[in-house]
Amino acid sequence: MNRTAIEPLRHAVRHLVTAVSSAALYSFDHPQVSRLRGAALDSLTAALEAEPDISLVIIGDELLAGDFPLDTGLYVGRFVEMMRARGIGHVKFLRGVTAGELAALAAALAGGRTEEEIRSTVHIRFGRVEVRFSLAGKEGEEDPLADFTAEEVARVTEIYEGVARNRKLHAAGIADMVGGFIIALRDQARPLMALAPLRDMDEYTFAHSVNVCILNLAQAMSLGINGPLLQEIGIAGLLHDIGKMFVPREILTKPAQLTDAEWRIMRRHPHQGARCLIETPGIPHLAAVVTFEHHMKHDFSGYPAVPPGWRQSLASEMTSISDFFDALRTRRSYCDSMELRQIAGMLLDRRGRELHPLLTRNFLLILSRMMA
Ligand SMILES: [Fe+2]
Ligand SMILES: [Fe+2]
Repeated sequence: MNRTAIEPLRHAVRHLVTAVSSAALYSFDHPQVSRLRGAALDSLTAALEAEPDISLVIIGDELLAGDFPLDTGLYVGRFVEMMRARGIGHVKFLRGVTAGELAALAAALAGGRTEEEIRSTVHIRFGRVEVRFSLAGKEGEEDPLADFTAEEVARVTEIYEGVARNRKLHAAGIADMVGGFIIALRDQARPLMALAPLRDMDEYTFAHSVNVCILNLAQAMSLGINGPLLQEIGIAGLLHDIGKMFVPREILTKPAQLTDAEWRIMRRHPHQGARCLIETPGIPHLAAVVTFEHHMKHDFSGYPAVPPGWRQSLASEMTSISDFFDALRTRRSYCDSMELRQIAGMLLDRRGRELHPLLTRNFLLILSRMMA
């Protein structure tokens, strides 16, 4: 991000927020409001002279221009509030923004329009992080996997089934697929995340792996993580249960509670998965770490047991939260899917003990935005 763009950008945000507030007092066509909109356009145009496109991303209460945080002053705070109220996580301005486009943005922000009514234009693009839930098994419901291409479904199934058959994982295509999810999460204007419910056992592997991958990406993105680390955290989510392919199918698909002996076999999957990933060229080391640690729990009350002083990766703790959430949300054969509020209560309950306190808080914030 070119630093010379920052100052005019700050002015643009200030003028835009003032124009929106003034429109509430006067009318949208009032000369005072038009003047402020003109000033916002001039400042934005000046910023876009230094940088051909500028992305403003909301993370918590902060507004980042590229990787540069704008001051959390009154105007920036108000702007963040307005955008968030409309479910907008980021906005990208491209060189060439017109007075009409900026007026439409100001009108949308002033008019309390719903997020569906705010549309991207040629030079102003909005990005949202939204989650769409489907309830399993309801008559006449659209296919929850419809948002994924047949190729993606086939690829994830193939990854897991390939391991089940040959005990070998092939890394080809995994990074590209996660990259595709990241782009979809960033750029798609329509609801982005189809968290797929479990409908039958054959779909479980696909649905759960993709859900954990996407929930990991949502958590990491909301914390401002991007680039190769974001991709690795997504890959780790996608592959975290790869060790289950070493567990006999009768145990994996048993509709009743497992016996102690069966649990002992089941509890080997983190270790077996991590070993498989370490042996696979092209898989990030972090994915093996996360696979090994994803049932460990924040207070180490889970498994496998590790020596005192062990430090879990934050990516593993993120994955535990995604995994916990999706396991409850997804209908298994022996327990119905739970309502989001009930799951939120259970997350809150475990916060600071089994689940990382700050990451859980952040996840609950993501969840509350989904439920709003
Ligand atoms: Fe697992
Ligand atoms: Fe899992």
